[in-house]
Amino acid sequence: MSIFDKCDGYTLAHETQAAGLYPYFHPIEEATATEARIRGEWKVMVGSNNYLGLTHHPRVLEAAANALTNYGSGSTGSRFLNGTLDLHYELEERLARFFHKEAALVFTTGYQASLGAMASIIARGDHLFLDRLDHASLVDGARLSHGEVHRYPHGDFAALGKQLARIGDGGGKLVVSDGVFSMEGSVVDLPALVRVAKAHGAQVMIDEAHAVGVLGPDGAGTVSHFGLSDDVDLILATFSKSLASVGGVIAGPDSVIHWLRHHSRALIFTASMPPSSVAGALAALDVLEQEPERRDRLWANTNLVAQSLRSMGFDTGESDTPVIPVLIGDFEKVLLAWRTLFDHGVFTHPIVPPAVPLNACRIRVSMSAEHTDDQIERVLSAFEHLARTTVLV
Ligand SMILES: Cc1ncc(COP(=O)(O)O)c(C=O)c1O
Repeated sequence: MSIFDKCDGYTLAHETQAAGLYPYFHPIEEATATEARIRGEWKVMVGSNNYLGLTHHPRVLEAAANALTNYGSGSTGSRFLNGTLDLHYELEERLARFFHKEAALVFTTGYQASLGAMASIIARGDHLFLDRLDHASLVDGARLSHGEVHRYPHGDFAALGKQLARIGDGGGKLVVSDGVFSMEGSVVDLPALVRVAKAHGAQVMIDEAHAVGVLGPDGAGTVSHFGLSDDVDLILATFSKSLASVGGVIAGPDSVIHWLRHHSRALIFTASMPPSSVAGALAALDVLEQEPERRDRLWANTNLVAQSLRSMGFDTGESDTPVIPVLIGDFEKVLLAWRTLFDHGVFTHPIVPPAVPLNACRIRVSMSAEHTDDQIERVLSAFEHLARTTVLV
């Protein structure tokens, strides 16, 4: 037996390619904030996380270009050593203020921020409690820690309370949840989560990946939306969505951030965020704060598309954010639906196991403030066509 047997025996992707239904790794030849050219054809992009549409904002592009000139194309080292720029500190100070926390630490991706925080804070004898629908990066961060991991059924805070009560005073406890669930588009009931966590002496960490720029009076996310900044201990966010860059952050108490700076392997043993990405994220944060009307446009686009899809008879689940899942059913049906939409000039994502259960496959649509009326019409007309086909029967 060879360790590569499983690779040689993996045929699903080839079979899907042969059937013309392979939805992954399609190279984009050119892009705007809301359209992508693929094999010479422009598609309306409703498969990105570009909620505020800032990837092509002139101020973001100019800041990134200036950073390239002033600092070079890469940091060529760890934050710990030669990879810390003044820009990293500036972004950390800005984000600490933005999230109403004492301090913040910037990682090279959001995924690494999750790994870096959990693996170094959660020690042997500690306990982590994760919602069943938490993002894979949180699950992997939990796995990499030395603590015991408990999963509670999605949004079931009575079950969470029982799990916490069973542990009692035996070890530290951290409850970790998405603020906005990435495949459902639903918002966590944060007041209920916080109540249960505090009743059992647990700390709370919220992943604001899909909430920054979307929720809260200042666009700072779920925690700010519920006015619970003092009750949530750690905030994780990524720059790969509304902030139109790449990178991640943990914001929290000064002592915790200081600890992470000196113990987090996902910070220390990898190169830091490149200068252009840091400068781009900083400029995007400026625009997020100075152009709140973008959030209004995002919500207007979201409400229009969600209501229109529902009135066509599509089931959009529990979504109440710009992430709009369209529930389709099984694996084959969702691939056929994806292909139908793609052929009608709309780029979506088919969401299949292990991200969701086999019978709950869905098309994921995500809206942007930059989508025009014309683009929205093209998206809705593609879905109207899908509703009329036999694909869904
Ligand atoms: C909910 C959630 N958390 C964390 C991440 C990881 O962020 P990044 O893309 O910066 O690694 C993602 C991105 O897919 C996400 O959707």
